Amino acid sequence: MSNRDTAATLEYHETTKHSERSVRASRHFLDFENQPLAFKIYRDLKAIPLPQSFPGDDLPALEAISPPVAAAAANGDDERTPDLATLSRILYLSAGITKRKRYPGGEILFRAYPNTGALHHIDLYLVTGELPGLSAGVYHFDPRDFALRRLREGDYRAVLVEASGRSPDLARAPLIIASASTYWRNAWKYEARAYRHCFWDGGTLHANLLAVAGSEQLEPRLVIGFADRAVEQLLGLDPEREGAIALVPLGRSRRATPPAPPLPELRLAIEPISRSEVDYPAIRAQHAASSLKDGAEAASWRAPTLAREEPAPTDSFYPLRPMAELDLPRDSLDAVIRRRGSTRAFDRTRSLSLEEFSAVLDCATCAVLGDFLDPPGASLLDLYLIVHAVEGLAPGAYYYRRLERSLELLREGNFRKEAGRLGLSQELPADAAVNVYSMVTLPALLGRFGNRGYRAAQLEGGVMGGRMYLGAYAQRFGATGLTFFDDEVTEFFSPHARGKSVMFLVALGHPDRTALGGGS
Ligand SMILES: Cc1cc2nc3c(=O)[nH]c(=O)nc-3n(C[C@H](O)[C@H](O)[C@H](O)COP(=O)(O)O)c2cc1C
Repeated sequence: MSNRDTAATLEYHETTKHSERSVRASRHFLDFENQPLAFKIYRDLKAIPLPQSFPGDDLPALEAISPPVAAAAANGDDERTPDLATLSRILYLSAGITKRKRYPGGEILFRAYPNTGALHHIDLYLVTGELPGLSAGVYHFDPRDFALRRLREGDYRAVLVEASGRSPDLARAPLIIASASTYWRNAWKYEARAYRHCFWDGGTLHANLLAVAGSEQLEPRLVIGFADRAVEQLLGLDPEREGAIALVPLGRSRRATPPAPPLPELRLAIEPISRSEVDYPAIRAQHAASSLKDGAEAASWRAPTLAREEPAPTDSFYPLRPMAELDLPRDSLDAVIRRRGSTRAFDRTRSLSLEEFSAVLDCATCAVLGDFLDPPGASLLDLYLIVHAVEGLAPGAYYYRRLERSLELLREGNFRKEAGRLGLSQELPADAAVNVYSMVTLPALLGRFGNRGYRAAQLEGGVMGGRMYLGAYAQRFGATGLTFFDDEVTEFFSPHARGKSVMFLVALGHPDRTALGGGS
């Protein structure tokens, strides 16, 4: 199986689409007796508690989410090594438990990042040299007891540097955070579509991680070009059930990464996550089809990004409107992440101002720095919107012209009913003030990046979606990710969007505080 055999992705994407028919024909039901644990629990490893109190940061959330590229870029030769308190802040605000809610069947532990079905299938791992307060090793982060567990002792960063074909970002980092999904924890509900969710949920998690680590001047980057087997082996993942998502280098060191110690196979006992597991071969097949075999393949995969052509514009343009300096919300990133929670009902009677909405779009579209987005500021995705209630914009369908920072009106009209339908006939997208769809032309993407381009586009969609959440909560309104009828979205925005596929959907608006459970 080769990354270049892109028929695999087209088939995976096609067979995991939602449609009226697929939803109707599905016999899938949720077996609550067999619901997987939302945590990976190592049986025999000692917990290394992380400091529960760590210095916050006063940087306003909107600034932290969208730093100018120059500010986020290299700090020259400055050395920068995170200490344990900084690391605790990063882990907590990326993937920590921020809320607990009791319900008749038990308790849900909500996390810092939004994720499909609150199933929390993503784990974080650290691969580090010596840090102040933490010895070199490979660690797993467990949000349950806010502790690390050491999987390997010694400095193994060189394994990741080699796996990435000597990525200069990984080579300069004293610490690398790796993420991985245990598929069954999400596939229990979403079946084979869970592989998309690895990158959706990984994306929202990384939106937080990039913002928090960026606020610590640690130059975080998304590195997704790596030899999968080598990374999975280092982290002790079960390649049949788990897949690595991304590597994020943090900090800067002038010292060369030392050669790694020997790498025995990890055989660590892990608590079963449910009574039994259902295998979805399509997940494993898509992971294998988009895997890179060694560092050399990773090095050649990492190259200038996809060149895209903007379609010719019409004359109905609405430029984004920046908020007056004095009106910019000053709430810190920490406060915003702690209070975030997906909106469960929107208030149809309240609109967003164009300034508020512009601030969210600016957050979403500021540079995502990563090895598939060179030069900095590039993007794989096009944004399409259904506006219901944004002051200064006629209700209708829009395309976001990124270079001009303008919204182009494609079709005027009240499309609340249609938006509800496109979002799997839910009320949230019908009641929201606006829905934002990230889309990509798959054949062009796969032509450039092979099957792994699919991971990249889904992940970028997740990061942009996560940033929209943060941009909304920074301004005290709400957001929720949503799923969708794939082909109907394309059809709705056609002919403009003909041939494009949806990677992510976010609805934005003011929460309905009178609705049951609403108003997060
Ligand atoms: C990609 C994505 C898709 C989602 N899809 C839906 C959806 O279709 N319907 C819905 O009610 N909530 C949806 N959600 C919201 C999740 O259910 C919510 O994030 C999860 O329950 C965790 O809650 P929290 O975001 O408040 O922490 C989605 C979230 C994400 C990130």
